[in-house]
Amino acid sequence: MSFLNPNQTTLVLAPMEGVMDAPMRALIADLGGFDYGVSEFVRVGQGVVTAQQILRDIPDLYGPVFGSAKLPLQLQLLGDSPELMAATAIEGCIAGARAIDINFGCPAPTILRRSGGAALLRTPCAITEIVSAVRTALPAVIPVSAKIRLGWEDPNEVDVIARAVEDGGANWITIHARTKQEGYRPGVHWDAVARVKARLSIPVVANGDLFTAEEVARCAAETGCTHFMIGRGILKNPFLAHDIRASQSLPALRADIPAQLSNRLRLGIERYAALTRDQAANSGFIPSRVKQWVGMVRDISDDVPRDVSREVLTAVKRARTTSELLDLIHRP
Ligand SMILES: Cc1cc2nc3c(=O)[nH]c(=O)nc-3n(C[C@H](O)[C@H](O)[C@H](O)COP(=O)(O)O)c2cc1C
Repeated sequence: MSFLNPNQTTLVLAPMEGVMDAPMRALIADLGGFDYGVSEFVRVGQGVVTAQQILRDIPDLYGPVFGSAKLPLQLQLLGDSPELMAATAIEGCIAGARAIDINFGCPAPTILRRSGGAALLRTPCAITEIVSAVRTALPAVIPVSAKIRLGWEDPNEVDVIARAVEDGGANWITIHARTKQEGYRPGVHWDAVARVKARLSIPVVANGDLFTAEEVARCAAETGCTHFMIGRGILKNPFLAHDIRASQSLPALRADIPAQLSNRLRLGIERYAALTRDQAANSGFIPSRVKQWVGMVRDISDDVPRDVSREVLTAVKRARTTSELLDLIHRP
């Protein structure tokens, strides 16, 4: 199973807790274009999280559960105890993980209160200890990476934080080019990523506001990065990874991609409902996820009515089950 190849352009599907779950990943795997994905975080709190518990939350860690397309999936852990993180990483491998990522970027208040995620950006020594414990616990064939923000409030903090990740023995680092305090405010600091990349000896995956192939090209030019992680952009354009591949003259993976964004989104929603139909035909889960998906597109885009046709919006609004959603979407 391959994850990040230092010598090749790599497109990584970002973790998005509550959005990018097993059914959604099945859709992205089906549409293709990504090299691997990172799971939503597993919170390592008071005790070791067992393989069974991990698989309950991330059933596709062991293999595809909706459809048959495969997307290598890296398991992400979040916690502040080196011992528990290391023991849970081993459980993760029992559950099927072939790569582990450690979350040092989550800004959610519930996580920060318990000193995990972005809270650790303020204690780089703790970052080194956690990465080192996880790295040491696993065989070398299992890559261990870390995902950080630039810092707590100053983008320049990234120099020390990234060095702490490297010192812990991580195989690569993903940098969301904002500080914790910046939340999701528009604007990312590619200059800070460029500086860190020049100083580190491990590969850097650039992340943040990569919504179009042009933005990826700009990021590549400004940072020198060849590895990119895409989150919200895939919700607006489910074929974004293909656009990026085409713009970088990488081999095309499929020929049947609709030109218009609205048709891309429509096709994405249809495939999503179809892939999960057997398991969730009469449940409201998928329609509510599609509503959330369209809502998030609305958050990052002013032109939702143009991006999603009126019929699809109406279908999404009315449908209560996957079957209804499919019927309404297909109604002329
Ligand atoms: C709803 C949501 C959930 C997220 N969950 C996670 C998570 O579980 N782990 C993580 O490392 N980052 C998480 N992130 C952050 C994303 O992985 C990514 O770093 C961020 O959205 C910036 O990338 P983008 O501009 O391409 O979306 C989440 C982001 C969103 C919007």
